[in-house]
Amino acid sequence: RVAALLEIGGVKIAKDDVVRESDPTNNVPDNIFSKIGLQLHRRDNHPIGILKNAIYEYFDTSYSSMFVKFDDLCPIVSVQQNFDEVLVPADHVSRSYNDTYYVDAGTVLRCHTSAHQAELLRAGHSHFLVTGDVYRRDSIDSTHYPVFHQMEGVRVFSPNEWEVSSTDATSYAATNLKKCLEGLARHLFGAVEMRWVDTYFPFTNPSFELEIYFQEKWMEVLGCGVTEQEILNRNGRKDSVAWAFGLGLERLAMVLFDIPDIRLFWSTDQRLTSQFSAGKLGVKFKPFSKFPPCYKDISFWISDSFTENNLCEVVRGIAGDLVEEVKLIDNFTNKKGMTSHCYRIAFRSMERSLTDEEINQLQWSIRETVQTKLHVTLR
Ligand code: PHE
Repeated sequence: RVAALLEIGGVKIAKDDVVRESDPTNNVPDNIFSKIGLQLHRRDNHPIGILKNAIYEYFDTSYSSMFVKFDDLCPIVSVQQNFDEVLVPADHVSRSYNDTYYVDAGTVLRCHTSAHQAELLRAGHSHFLVTGDVYRRDSIDSTHYPVFHQMEGVRVFSPNEWEVSSTDATSYAATNLKKCLEGLARHLFGAVEMRWVDTYFPFTNPSFELEIYFQEKWMEVLGCGVTEQEILNRNGRKDSVAWAFGLGLERLAMVLFDIPDIRLFWSTDQRLTSQFSAGKLGVKFKPFSKFPPCYKDISFWISDSFTENNLCEVVRGIAGDLVEEVKLIDNFTNKKGMTSHCYRIAFRSMERSLTDEEINQLQWSIRETVQTKLHVTLR
């Protein structure tokens, strides 16, 4: 046994316990493990930490410090915490090995901070914020990264709070929730174009998403809703109603600080880190230079088990943060029923120019690994 490498919120974590290549129920690669414990949200000079603190400030002033804050809960949680306790159905896609990092069949890297809702309700908390790193297998582009940060907010109301209003408990909570988050958006952005979209989450009903207009697109920045009564019933709050939200800190920070690519949050380049300091929200990031991208295409006949997330995992495992985007540019099925995909990989460093040689080497290594690990036939 290797000695514990990390300690998070009192939990000791050994690499051997998280990355087990021989275990078929484990799909956590090295490069993902290495992100555990970095806790960007606990660095006061980092955009993610600056944003967390600004949100804390909003809640402290608007709710006279009633919200209890947690930002050091261990990201390795049980399947029960991450899914069952927030009523995620047994067949929901988010439970798949394609979407979530499993340490073993009963343990995952949390894919949302909602994983902590139930335990904190059981502990008797009625107003709380949970900030932490969350992990998702996904495709690669400028707003998606397999590790990002969320802040969860939960507020529980007791009957006397809505009984004096003229509305039912659910509408009371929904109205209160939207007001709270619109206030937060104004606190952070002043004026920004935003819209509410109705949506579905297993743990809230009704459920909403807040979208913000950024880089000529509507971007989802948070999910929220009125907590499913079943969650309250199971956790000792039978007579209450509650709301919950989960917001993506990177997405909000990209808009606030003008950060064009999500990989920049992980950069340790001084030219970047020196631009941000504690308490300074919304300082606009000045790119130190835009290096040219380099595109490489890869085409193959896929197999039944092929997924884009698996491809992206391979690419990220080899090229790390040098890959900017992986995009399907061609897709067809021939007369024999074989399906071909062509992906365009964009390589670009945030910090320097890449040489043809190093990109060619990465691409060769990607081709080789894609062929052996993903059971596809290169064309
Ligand atoms: N957990 C949801 C997500 O990660 C966000 C959310 C939190 C939605 C709380 C509703 C309530 O997308």
